[in-house]
Amino acid sequence: MTVDTIDRVAVLGAGSMGHGIAEVAAIGGYDVVVRDLEDELVEDGLEQIEWSLGKLAEKGRIDESADDVFARVEGTTDLEAAVEDADLVIEAVPERMSIKKDTFSEVDEYAPDHAILASNTSGLSITEMATATDRPEQVVGTHYFNPPIRMDLIEVVHGEETSEETIETMHEYADSVGKTAIDVKKDVHGFVVNNVLVPFMEEPAWMLEEGLTTIEEADAAMVYQRGYPMGPFELSDYSGIDIGYHFREDSRYEAPPPIERKVENDELGRKTGTGFYEYEDGEGTTYD
Ligand code: 3HC
Repeated sequence: MTVDTIDRVAVLGAGSMGHGIAEVAAIGGYDVVVRDLEDELVEDGLEQIEWSLGKLAEKGRIDESADDVFARVEGTTDLEAAVEDADLVIEAVPERMSIKKDTFSEVDEYAPDHAILASNTSGLSITEMATATDRPEQVVGTHYFNPPIRMDLIEVVHGEETSEETIETMHEYADSVGKTAIDVKKDVHGFVVNNVLVPFMEEPAWMLEEGLTTIEEADAAMVYQRGYPMGPFELSDYSGIDIGYHFREDSRYEAPPPIERKVENDELGRKTGTGFYEYEDGEGTTYD
């Protein structure tokens, strides 16, 4: 299978990653179906895509009208209907191996034999997910970054049995949606980016605990010294403090206490209105 045989993309999960991945695919010219468990979640995801396309069109960042791109996107709660005609299925469901495997097992049953099954996991084993299917050579990691529409990188991750053809097709696909892909040859926990990024967010949290820095100072240090768009605490709030925390469940290292407390108190960053900082707008209106 080559990228030219991909017409229809199914994205499972309409949350911040799922709807962004779907939007990227639609802008790239693909027909897209977004699936989530409840109507309200699907509607929210579609609204986010529509809002974002409007913004991009306003600024001349897409070649077509927002309406034309949006016309290629549909939503559903029915998994079978979502994947039965898909050439590529990208899952962006919650970051738990059991959920990923259940999802892939179901998708494997309904998706066409030629379809590639991609996971947006930020670090779980692609090899293990592939065991839930009868097509491990067509299971691959495609790790996007938040927000997918703005972040240029995709990690294309090899499972032990992923075929070279699948890897090549996903590199071509990344190219076709205007992204830059890096090839991650082994599905080590966290791949490349999160093995760099998680310490970047956790080390300052240990320093905070020990009274060696403040949230604002650590953030200012990285923004002004490195030129990063966000410092470690702001990025943690932006990505969701729980995301980094759960990512590390398989990690050898203990979670820094400030992060542990935030998760216990359900202060998860922008999406809950409170994290290391306070937010008035909450999730979904991050950019308003
Ligand atoms: N669609 C359309 N327009 C958008 C948009 C979107 N999704 N997001 C933002 N915009 C628009 C805004 O509305 C705003 O437009 P306006 O000026 O007309 O209102 C304009 O873009 C600029 O918005 P901001 O000022 O908020 O944007 P910035 O220029 O500050 O950039 C950012 C925002 C891209 C998020 C930048 O802060 C950034 O790069 N932050 C770091 C993000 C990052 O590192 N992400 C990776 C996280 S780790 C991860 O995802 C891995 C996972 O495994 C956990």
